Amino acid sequence: MDEAYATITVPVDPEQPGPAAIAQAARLIRDGELVAFPTETVYGLGADALNPQAVARIFRAKGRPADNPIIVHIPSAQDLASLTPQVPALAGVLAARFWPGPLTLVVRRAPQVPYITTGGLETVAVRVPAHPVALALLRAAQRPIAAPSANRSGRPSPTCAEHVLEDLRGRVRLVLDAGPCAVGVESTVLDVTQDPPVLLRPGGVTAEALEAVVGQVGAPRESDRAAGRSPGARYRHYAPRAALLLAPPGEVEPLAVRLLDEGRMVGIMARRPLQLRHPRARVRIISGDLAQYARELFAALRELDAQGRQVIVAESVAEQGLGLAIMDRLRRAAAGSQGSE
Ligand code: TXA
Ligand code: MG
Repeated sequence: MDEAYATITVPVDPEQPGPAAIAQAARLIRDGELVAFPTETVYGLGADALNPQAVARIFRAKGRPADNPIIVHIPSAQDLASLTPQVPALAGVLAARFWPGPLTLVVRRAPQVPYITTGGLETVAVRVPAHPVALALLRAAQRPIAAPSANRSGRPSPTCAEHVLEDLRGRVRLVLDAGPCAVGVESTVLDVTQDPPVLLRPGGVTAEALEAVVGQVGAPRESDRAAGRSPGARYRHYAPRAALLLAPPGEVEPLAVRLLDEGRMVGIMARRPLQLRHPRARVRIISGDLAQYARELFAALRELDAQGRQVIVAESVAEQGLGLAIMDRLRRAAAGSQGSE
């Protein structure tokens, strides 16, 4: 059954959130309610990670499959010890280097972490977010906060409060609105219960940066998937309503022209201005570097979708640095969309 709330949106200063707003949000978390809050990656839909009823609300609000586990957020690396029987040495090293920041570590689950939070797994995913609002909320709530991205399952992740409201108005008590997120793609998920550690999801911390610290990083094997170690990979993600096609820089325009000739309404995500002018084409220029592409990616997908595009042509990037996370998200969006291969 859907819960209908009068969702309250509370604007907060991203650097110095007011104590009243944080206290209000923290109280809701302690009472087992849902609060959406900004992190440096995307907005999260938070609940008390140790309260099974509260976590159940997250699954209902998102329409999330019950076996897809949720990341647990903590205010400092020291708190990891309360969520896992023994902090792996490698986790300590990575936490010291990358926390607070967009890295999630999968470790063994301590008994106090409910199975609903871990999707039934014996592991738990944990991170310390690098956003003053998220950190203030975590400190005030004095609870680890389980938070998936604050979108309805299958929709692009939310990088501003408006996206959260689009998807979850009436399904969340309170939204802390601190403006747009700095990173724009979700955290990197790394399984440190295996040696070498396994990259389950590329994200805001690049594989190169991880390798500089830990040496080798493994890719998930088919057997990991079968064993349920990479549950998120099973689901359709980030699917815009429009079909999404990927094209290298030189082929974006010819492909768009072909689709226009077929009479389609076309949206284009390109990294440089195009010659193309057409009444049925909307061009969304994502200028600048990969960091900017990552920051604008989900908003661009939502925008073009809202404009009723039938097909979106997105410019592909090299799979290096942040490019790995960008291409991962674009491919999932393409695979989930109708009419693409
Ligand atoms: O940046 C982020 O990570 C954002 C912000 C809010 O922190 N959160 C986020 O959560 O992206 P979500 O639920 O949208 O993605 C979590 C991913 C999923 O792919 C999930 O399957 C995986 O992490 N995950 C969570 N717990 C896991 C576990 N115990 N083992 C393996 N994968 C896990
Ligand atoms: Mg998500």
